Amino acid sequence: MIYIPSSARYSKMIYNYCGRSGLKLPAISLGLWHNFGGTDNFETSRAIIRAAFDAGITHFDLANNYGTPDGSAEENFGLILKKDFKNHRDEMVISTKAGYYMWEGPYGEWGSRKYLVASLNQSLKRLQLDYVDIFYSHRPDPDTPLEETLGAIDTAIKQGKALYAGISNYPAEMTQNASRILRSLGTPCLIHQPRYSMFDRWVEKDLLNVLEHEGIGCIPFSPLAQGLLTDRYLKGIPEGSRASKPDGFLKKEQITPEIISKVKGLSLIASQRGQSLAQMAIAWLLKDPRVTSVLIGASSVEQLHNNLGALENLYFDNSELQQIEKILSE
Ligand SMILES: NC(=O)c1ccc[n+]([C@@H]2O[C@H](COP(=O)([O-])OP(=O)(O)OC[C@H]3O[C@@H](n4cnc5c(N)ncnc54)[C@H](OP(=O)(O)O)[C@@H]3O)[C@@H](O)[C@H]2O)c1
Repeated sequence: MIYIPSSARYSKMIYNYCGRSGLKLPAISLGLWHNFGGTDNFETSRAIIRAAFDAGITHFDLANNYGTPDGSAEENFGLILKKDFKNHRDEMVISTKAGYYMWEGPYGEWGSRKYLVASLNQSLKRLQLDYVDIFYSHRPDPDTPLEETLGAIDTAIKQGKALYAGISNYPAEMTQNASRILRSLGTPCLIHQPRYSMFDRWVEKDLLNVLEHEGIGCIPFSPLAQGLLTDRYLKGIPEGSRASKPDGFLKKEQITPEIISKVKGLSLIASQRGQSLAQMAIAWLLKDPRVTSVLIGASSVEQLHNNLGALENLYFDNSELQQIEKILSE
């Protein structure tokens, strides 16, 4: 069936400027880490991407190593772009990253210019694209000068293979340095992608302030703590869930009675707000104006639609925030 995007796709989504740039991102973006690879059902992946675009999600996040096997999420996304989105490339912000292990030998991971340049060329081939919108350094490399890693991203941008620079998983001080280096190259850092959710709040100490000061946008990943901050694990570990899969990054050991007890407490507050826990977890991140977009994952169209419902109630009163803090600190 030929896909015709919904004509109402821009009517409900909220778009936020990414830091002090001119680029707007949707308040909810879709990540293709799990559920879009070679071992996943292609038609389900395709349906989720279509449903996301229909709902105004314009930003799709990838990395060289996404999918099982590595690279297969980019390949699948490239095919879906070709089949369904040929006429819509200019409505999309597509990102990819390099930093984690991709190939054998000394040039297949981390932060050298050699690796980043080769990896982006490979990503563009898999995606069947001439350029990506955002190219990220996926993780800090303690053994490579920041100038080299960021210089490689700057080169990619000057060659037209990427439009904007991003960093991911960089701690606060390194982010400050990265921002200075990128600015000196004439390529300001657009965005930082850190892990951030109700269950993992390391960014609140320093990073968010650095991002605000430097005018860098923030796109938290794993906002649902890979599914923990939903109703997914309230009755055990369901078949097909991330925690049930051998290649899933959520491990059974992480689903402890303490976590489930917090999830139950948070679910009660969510239901008093007329939301699912997933919706409240997303809204809770978006209440901070320093957060540009929340980067969700989904394994079905139903989950995606549920998560989009977060946008209907982004307001928290003080008592709700206090109740949430109490549960999280117990
Ligand atoms: N930069 C980095 O280092 C880094 C690292 C990790 C992720 N990321 C990016 O962030 C994106 C999102 O990460 P994530 O997938 O961990 O995000 P997440 O939103 O925390 O978790 C997504 C998972 O939660 C479950 N879920 C989602 N919505 C649900 C709902 N409404 N009800 C019940 N369960 C629901 C699904 O699990 P099931 O599969 O069990 O259904 C889904 O696969 C990735 O795709 C990637 O783009 C970046």
